[in-house]
Formats: sequence, structure tokens, C-alpha cells
Amino acid sequence: KSISLDITKAAQFLNEGAIKSYEPHVKAAQEALENGTCPGNDFLGWLHLPSSITSSFLKEIQDCANVLRANCEVIVVAGIGGSYLGARAVIEALGNSFSWLVGDKKNPTIVFAGNNIGEDYLFELTTYLAGKKFGVINISKSGTTTETALTFRLLKKQCEAQRGKEEAKKVIVAVTDAHKGAARAAADKEGYTTFIIPDNIGGRFSVLTPVGLLPIACAGFDITSLVSGATGMEKACGKDVPFAENPAAIYAAVRNGLYSQAGKKIEIMVNFQPKLHFISEWWKQLFGESEGKENKGIFPASCDFTTDLHSMGQWIQEGERTIYETVISVEETNERLLFPKDEENLDGLNFLSGKRVDEVNKMAELGTRLAHVDGGVPNIRVSVPKLNEYYIGQLIYFFEIACGISGNLLGVNPFNQPGVEAYKKNMFALLDKPGYEADSKAIKERLSK
Ligand code: PA5
Repeated sequence: KSISLDITKAAQFLNEGAIKSYEPHVKAAQEALENGTCPGNDFLGWLHLPSSITSSFLKEIQDCANVLRANCEVIVVAGIGGSYLGARAVIEALGNSFSWLVGDKKNPTIVFAGNNIGEDYLFELTTYLAGKKFGVINISKSGTTTETALTFRLLKKQCEAQRGKEEAKKVIVAVTDAHKGAARAAADKEGYTTFIIPDNIGGRFSVLTPVGLLPIACAGFDITSLVSGATGMEKACGKDVPFAENPAAIYAAVRNGLYSQAGKKIEIMVNFQPKLHFISEWWKQLFGESEGKENKGIFPASCDFTTDLHSMGQWIQEGERTIYETVISVEETNERLLFPKDEENLDGLNFLSGKRVDEVNKMAELGTRLAHVDGGVPNIRVSVPKLNEYYIGQLIYFFEIACGISGNLLGVNPFNQPGVEAYKKNMFALLDKPGYEADSKAIKERLSK
């Protein structure tokens, strides 16, 4: 079994032959990726990453995770953007939605930080961690990202204060560049266990490096199976797979067709399982940061259904016709829950008695699909047989390779992100960071006018 793609309800919005017309362009894009002749070719380390991960490397990660698991009731994963979203996406997709609330005897609680500068958030986090045996995975490729570095300083001090400096060293791990950055310097000085983020893998393509694998292993999930799913997809989407059989090629072609030929400027990633919320967040970063440049790019949005059918559903059904949907459809749930019969039937729901809750959900999904397509919203469906490590691994690689191809079709460099620097420059200037003196002066003058 494998994840699969259904584009029939999107193809009907395109002229006949429109998708097929992308075949030579997709082929050229895949060859450019393979041969390293595309823009951003120094960031292609993710392309054959799954098949190059060895079992001894996975064991090294698992061994580190086991030390953290044995010594921590809580593990704080500090990182932002590509150093955050992949791990959270996988952990939430596979985990129990309530484990953070009720605790899980078998696994440490994983919490995420370093992804915001909310004082209340950090105060509440440090209060929650007070008196707890906690560890930290500090993830930053550059090793200098403000949100993460600021959080790590707080956590490091608290961990050392609570466990003593020597004990703290055992439960602080750095995932960072091999040589550069403050996170590397601190890790080397303190003697933390470290994992390297390869130079040729950008943040949003790094979930299958220790950036994602270590937190995922810490949460108790099977990283071997995750990587094996991704490896399977690497094969299924290879450059020699015929266009019509290559799901990533087809997805890239359809979305570019919808964008350039049907005026569909917004792609809404939709799920019918709340635990997929962060898969959409990860996907938004992957496509948004890769394609949104040079005044081009599909805007990646997301909705959690059926929840958002009661809010954004109105817009999707009847708002401006510039959107299409990509639905991640989970074929089989992991658990079973039958809807009970009630003699009094006060709620009038006895027509559902004896049905699985998922049957109701599936009819909501089908009904929504029909309604939205009728309303002029093209629909792409990505079917996932079940939520487990293997299929999530497939899904990750599917979107990564599709993004690499799609960005090339759009004619941008999908592997850089020059636009994310603008806010940082202003923030540092406003905070009088050393080295920003001229910018500080200029920005203050501008604001005083
Ligand atoms: O995809 C990206 O490159 C970014 O989202 C980065 O991952 C993010 O800015 C964090 O950077 P770093 O890992 O250097 O702290």
C-alpha cells in the first residue's frame, strides 16, 4: 500500500491536455534536480537523503533519544521554521491528542519552544518546567536565530539550576551546523552531544535529518519506519518513473496548471483529522518559503475540517473563485468508536446508531468535496492509508520532491529565502544590536517622522 493521488476533480477545471503539456517541463525540472543544474543547486542534499540514511546513523539517533527518554519527564524541542515544524508535524500526527494533558507513562512529554518571542509563553513554560526533570534539544542550523537562541539561554540556565551543570550536559543536545554559529560554539564548549545539519539541506527540507528524527525518536516513534516510507516514495517519484505514474510530478503539474491557466492563486491544504493540523503548517512553510518570491507563487493556506467548515466553509463555497483544495484523506483510522443507540433519541441522531464515527466523517468529506467542486473549487486528494510512521514518511518525501519540481516549473529558486531577512534587519536595528548602528540610526529617523 502507498499514499495515492486523485486529480480527477482538479483536472476538470483545466483544458484537455493541460496536465500532459507539463510532462517535458517536469522531466527537465527533475533532470535539473538530479544533475544539480537547477537554481539553488547547493541545497539538494534532501533529494536522495532517505535512501542514504544508514541503520547505524539511525541507531546513533535512537541511542541519544534513549538517553533523553531515560532521564527526562519533559523534553523541550527548541527551534523555529524548518528547525521546528517537521518534528511537530510528525509527533502530532502520530501521537495521542491528549497525551500532553493526561501524561503518557511510556513516553516523555514533548513541548516546543524557541518558535516565538511571547513573554507569557516563555514565563508559562519555565513555570511548567520548574521542579521537573527536563532536557532540551536545541535545533538551529545557523545557530544564531534570535527566537531559538533567546529561549535556549533561558532553558539552559534553568536546566543547570535544577539538575546541576554536569547532569544538565547529559540532557542538552544540539542539532546545528558542523562548524559555524553560537549553538555550535556553546555545544563544543559545554561538551553537549551534537548532531550536524548538513550544509546542503535547507531548514524546510530537513525533517529527515536529526532536526526531525531526534525529537520524533524521543517521542517514541519509529524513525526507521518513517525513513523507510520516505525511501519508498523517493523511488516512486524518481526521475525515470513515467510522468503519469509519478504522483509528485502530477501534483506539481496540476498545481502549476491551476495557478497559471485557471487563476487559482491560493491552495488550501485540508484535513479531516485534527492531528494533521501541523502537517499543514509544515507544508505551508515548505511551499510558501520555496515558491513565494519574485512576485509569484501560490499562497499556501490551510483549514482543519470539519471544524473550519463552520467558519471558512462559507468563503470556500462562495467567496472569490481563486482557490483550490488539496485534501489529505486518511483511509483508515487507528481506533474504532461506534456511535451508540439512545432509546429516547432526544437529539434525533439514531440514524447514526451503530455507525463508526469515521463513517460520519467520511460522508462529511465526500459531501464537502461535491459541494466545493460544484462551487468552483478544484479538488486534489492525497489518500493516506493510515496514520503511521511509514505513510507519514511517504507523505513528507512526496511533498518535498513535488515542491522541488513545482518551484522549478514556476521559474524560481525554491531553495533560498531572501525575503525572511527583512524583518530581522529591522528588529536588530530597533534593538540596537551591535553591528547594526547605521541601520538603527536610519530606522529611528524614519519612525520619528
Ligand atoms: O526553512 C528555513 O530555512 C527557515 O525556516 C529556518 O529553518 C528557520 O529560519 C530557522 O533557522 P535556523 O535553523 O538557522 O535557526
